[in-house]
Amino acid sequence: MAKTHTRYVCQQCGRVVASYMGKCPQCSSFNSMVEEVIHEEPVNKGSSNVRGLSGRSVPRPIDEVGGDAEDRVHLPIGEFSRVLGGGIVLGSIVLIGGDPGIGKSTLMLQMAMEMANTQRVLYVSGEESERQIKMRAVRLLSDKKELPKNLLLVTETNLEVILNHVHELKPDLLIIDSIQTVYLSALDSSAGSVSQVRECASHLRELAKSSGVSVFLIGHVTKEGAIAGPRVLEHIVDTVLYLEGDRFQAYRLLRSVKNRFGATAEVGVFEMREGGLVEVTNPSEAFLAERLVNAAGSTIAVTMEGTRPILVEIQGLTSPTQFGNARRTPNGIDFNRLLLISAVLTRRVGLKLSEQDVFVNVVGGIQIDEPAADLAIAAAITSSWKDIPVRAEAVLIGEIGLAGELRMPGQMVARLREAQKLGFKTAIVPKAIRQGEPYPKGIEIIEVRSLDQALNAALKKSEK
Ligand code: TYD
Ligand code: MG
Repeated sequence: MAKTHTRYVCQQCGRVVASYMGKCPQCSSFNSMVEEVIHEEPVNKGSSNVRGLSGRSVPRPIDEVGGDAEDRVHLPIGEFSRVLGGGIVLGSIVLIGGDPGIGKSTLMLQMAMEMANTQRVLYVSGEESERQIKMRAVRLLSDKKELPKNLLLVTETNLEVILNHVHELKPDLLIIDSIQTVYLSALDSSAGSVSQVRECASHLRELAKSSGVSVFLIGHVTKEGAIAGPRVLEHIVDTVLYLEGDRFQAYRLLRSVKNRFGATAEVGVFEMREGGLVEVTNPSEAFLAERLVNAAGSTIAVTMEGTRPILVEIQGLTSPTQFGNARRTPNGIDFNRLLLISAVLTRRVGLKLSEQDVFVNVVGGIQIDEPAADLAIAAAITSSWKDIPVRAEAVLIGEIGLAGELRMPGQMVARLREAQKLGFKTAIVPKAIRQGEPYPKGIEIIEVRSLDQALNAALKKSEK
């Protein structure tokens, strides 16, 4: 007979406790515990009650295990494929997270339509009706193509029914839009709760591993910025991708934060157009397109997004403080990083920023976490304050230390190559202490030790 017992699960972090607590001992949120009843099937009292993914498991010597490389299916969307590590791995389970309205369903539908040319794809939606999805598909379709016959749509939220469909239809690819809408009737909690999301995802993982279907889950990000009430899914799936970007700007970044089959921190760049998401194969060019050359307060940084260097414009603006406290307003960089850079500029370079509001903006709506952009940020602020433009053909790369010294970031050569490719003539970089790979020829390298020297070199009026 099935045994029933209850437990309390924090809806924020997924912590499970035996009795009710007002405050979660793990994430300290209040009133986040929800009671859940779980009906457990009695475990088979056979020779073994340890269950493997396919019901039974047999250890084998490593060299007898099949598959030298993962079996991958080619994915015609290049940027997407690269983020996945080069195609879709058979039997893998991938989670795509992102804010509502950012374009997750659009991306998945585009992928489904491409894949349906060669494979059988089942698109399960718990959010939109089949009609709505079809209307979107028609809109996404580039002219003169037909809707693929091998793309099957269903609106369903009951996971048991979905698994039955998979059994009958035997698709190669299964897309669930979204994991927060599906539920298992064996659990009493409502769809979207931590335990439903986690249980459903585990079932889908078993399905992927035992049958070789590749599964894509769409997950909404909560206000705190994590999928389904923090990280509960990340260890269940093989790959976690986030689709990010400013809703009011066209660029979307698809970033891998975990990948069992490829590099993490890889980034694909897309642009949202009327006909859906379009790949941006040369993001640096796109980000620099609207740049006003020789405007004070504008600099170029080279940031690494995964293995790819991307050039972005950084804008700085200083303006006298009107009321009381001077404000620091970053857009696209970390607030504390801006505080640090402002402080170093004040103390080590003698820039009087104490009565200035400082604004910094990364153009294109992307977010830079790398300290390698410090120098470009500092130069943008200084350039605005002094009202002298930064040399237009120069890129600035370097991390700033508290003493006003410059530090060498990683992958310098790749950064310089990208800058050279886009026609930049000069790079202002920290002086190399260790001998590394030689720098590319064809771009003038100005090596400096301190922030002060770097700013002198960057703001020097270029001789005509
Ligand atoms: P959607 O994929 O529904 O977002 P999500 O599934 O992440 O919630 O994307 C919705 C947005 O994308 C919506 O604001 C309209 C926009 N969009 C376009 O600009 N062009 C298009 O071709 C499509 C399909 C959507
Ligand atoms: Mg959607």
